[in-house]
Amino acid sequence: MIPTIADRVQSRVDRFSYGRVVGEWGGRHLLHGLPPSPDAVLLNSNDYLGLAGDHRVAEAMCTALAAGGARFTSGAFVDDGHPQAIVERALADHMRAPAGILCQSGWDANVGLLQAIADPRTPVYVDSFAHMSMWHGAKVAGAPLHPFRHNFPGHLREEIRTYGPGIIAVDSIYSSNGSRAPLAQLCDVAEQTGSLLVVDESRSLGTDGPLGAGAVAALGLTERVPFRVASLSGALAGRAGFVAANGVDFVDYFRMESFPAVFSSTLLPHDLAGISAALTAVRTDDWRRERLVQVSERVRQGLGALGFDLEAAAAHIVSLQAGPDLRAMAIRDFLEARGIFGTVLCPPATARNRTLVRFCLHAALTDLEIDRILLACKEVRDAFGAIPPPPPPVRGTAPIPKQTPVQTGDSTR
Ligand SMILES: Cc1ncc(COP(=O)(O)O)c(C=O)c1O
Repeated sequence: MIPTIADRVQSRVDRFSYGRVVGEWGGRHLLHGLPPSPDAVLLNSNDYLGLAGDHRVAEAMCTALAAGGARFTSGAFVDDGHPQAIVERALADHMRAPAGILCQSGWDANVGLLQAIADPRTPVYVDSFAHMSMWHGAKVAGAPLHPFRHNFPGHLREEIRTYGPGIIAVDSIYSSNGSRAPLAQLCDVAEQTGSLLVVDESRSLGTDGPLGAGAVAALGLTERVPFRVASLSGALAGRAGFVAANGVDFVDYFRMESFPAVFSSTLLPHDLAGISAALTAVRTDDWRRERLVQVSERVRQGLGALGFDLEAAAAHIVSLQAGPDLRAMAIRDFLEARGIFGTVLCPPATARNRTLVRFCLHAALTDLEIDRILLACKEVRDAFGAIPPPPPPVRGTAPIPKQTPVQTGDSTR
């Protein structure tokens, strides 16, 4: 009998429920561990500056909520006098950009932007570790998609030589392993080939650069990067996304051209109030950035000394390479039993058998908590080894080289 569409959908669901959860994971969900105890060290949030729940942000949001007057409407109706436009100007000024547009999420910002600037005649070159929203935006635009090797401008240049100038999409700090993009070199490639660079600053806005203006501003590259995108769910501890553009007229175009802006309702007054208050805190509290740097250096150094391969981590994100899912689950359980809660990143956020246990470090970590993290990781090393076994070769193919482009993305958050 020919399977119906409903049968086909159900077989996909079964593949997940029985194939993956029951078959591969032994009936437990890989991403759902223990509930953390009150003294747990939480390394599973993107709140790098420790601003979630900050009284200034909470009070601003509560006041806006109590004032009422929310209008549930598309972003296409936002004009220069709208309260959203005021926050947009503040964020753009902060990032040292001429203009910017708020979106409902970082995902919507990336998808909306790539949809608005790419098209079937414009190739998109995506770093193989770039966030999934970049890949998806390029697909939505119908653009030819060419991944290039992670942080390898030479490979990017070769690809552009073959397929022509296009849009280059990278993250400033990569969500999966905390490596940093070589932004100055990427600007050179973009300018020399007539391409356009898009940098996702989700992991660097608020943490890097003067007053937290981001990694591009830190390197003095704002005029060389036409578009910057950020999720505000990182250091700004909010629920929104932002596109910073070097052309003022881009704003109106984007509002009418990007589908998430046109066809989905925009932010509410309490979202805007929270973002504004968080932005002020980010700009004022330099100590949070300084502490984050100290914490991150100590943890990276400690893990490196224990023999973990942190894959060029150079920021406040570090990941233990766990190998196959079951090994990752065992490491996750082992860490949680010691009160350390990271995030498991598995396919589709990583390649198969390259599951990660990620730690998002933050400014509120105490020295004692850092000691606990390092002690627990020493015990992980002693119990499991610092390096996962090499992935089994796929039948009929050579073993996977380390630099094979792999579509990734922080889909687990
Ligand atoms: C680099 C990057 N871009 C975009 C996003 C999506 O942001 P949001 O969660 O606001 O949709 C994330 C989310 O983790 C991210 O890490």
